[in-house]
Amino acid sequence: MSGPNTDYDPVEVTPLRADEVEAQVEAALAAVAGAADLEALKQVRLEHAGDRSPLALANREIGALPPQARKEAGARVGKARGMVNKALGERLAVLEAEHEERMLVEETVDVTLPTDRTLSGARHPITMMSERIADVFVAMGWEVAEGPQVEAEWLNFDALNMGADHPARTMQDTFWLEPAEAALVLRTHTSPVQARTMLTREPPIYVVCPGRVYRTDEIDATHSPVFHQVEGLVIDEGITMAHLKGSLDHFATAMFGEGITTRFRPSYFPFTEPSAEVDLICFVCRGIDADSCRTCRGEGWIEWGGCGVVNPRVLTACGVDPEKYTGFAFGMGIDRTMMFRHGVEDMRDIFEGDIRFAQPFGIEI
Ligand code: DAH
Repeated sequence: MSGPNTDYDPVEVTPLRADEVEAQVEAALAAVAGAADLEALKQVRLEHAGDRSPLALANREIGALPPQARKEAGARVGKARGMVNKALGERLAVLEAEHEERMLVEETVDVTLPTDRTLSGARHPITMMSERIADVFVAMGWEVAEGPQVEAEWLNFDALNMGADHPARTMQDTFWLEPAEAALVLRTHTSPVQARTMLTREPPIYVVCPGRVYRTDEIDATHSPVFHQVEGLVIDEGITMAHLKGSLDHFATAMFGEGITTRFRPSYFPFTEPSAEVDLICFVCRGIDADSCRTCRGEGWIEWGGCGVVNPRVLTACGVDPEKYTGFAFGMGIDRTMMFRHGVEDMRDIFEGDIRFAQPFGIEI
């Protein structure tokens, strides 16, 4: 049986020699002191205190020593490692504090600096409203159609059953373009887009047409020579007034909220037969306290636009077979819709282009 190896000289185990351990500690402390930032310190920790650092490896050698030599070597290496770890901890605290201070300086915002006060532009509320309206119909599978603002007289009037001497022509006071022989007008309504659509597409047709229109009106709180309408047109087999009513009720609810539907009053438009004026249930009083309501002024209803079943004469003029197809159409003022939806009292506010009017509607660029 062999006894403990009492002849073993611990000094001979190089990594555990006092001078070697001291040299490692010195090297480690110098490296710690020289670590300029947290990243460098991390590297120093790995090299001098990590699992593969000389001191950690020396520590492992202890087990190989004879028991009587272990205590001293253990104390030496333990103390050395303690010093290195302490230095690492202190340096870490210093570097972290420095880092934090630097971040505070670098990320400081000087709120007193002069700024670029140019306002960013706002999309016009009418543009946003037109898109919102179009979205209601696009969600039902309709398409958006557009036409030119300078329109052929024939499309603005004749194709819509308003002949040269039709009395309805005088209902809409028209801007004519020169020379007169060109027979061009600034379109007085969006209805010519109906004619253009029927002339260029095959039924079934489901289109919504928002756009700018012109009439020779004097400017006042409720009139402007330029304003906006939205036109709807459906041409398909078996279309009836019931489809029209359902579509407009959906449109009204989508724009003004649950419970806001429409009623029809008999009317006349040359391009529809029968024709109706569309009223909305007043979305403020809902027809319940109409007497004191400032929005509908006691009516319980708000006039919204015109509509009807497309006149077969219009279908024929636009190349659609009235024996096979029927359709409906409607037209509403977008400015008017915005005025009562948002409580705009003076139409001039819509057209003057003052950004202070547009801003409350939200800056969408
Ligand atoms: N174009 C008409 C106007 O400007 C509005 C209108 C009424 C359009 C009835 C329609 C309709 O499509 O069916 O006053």
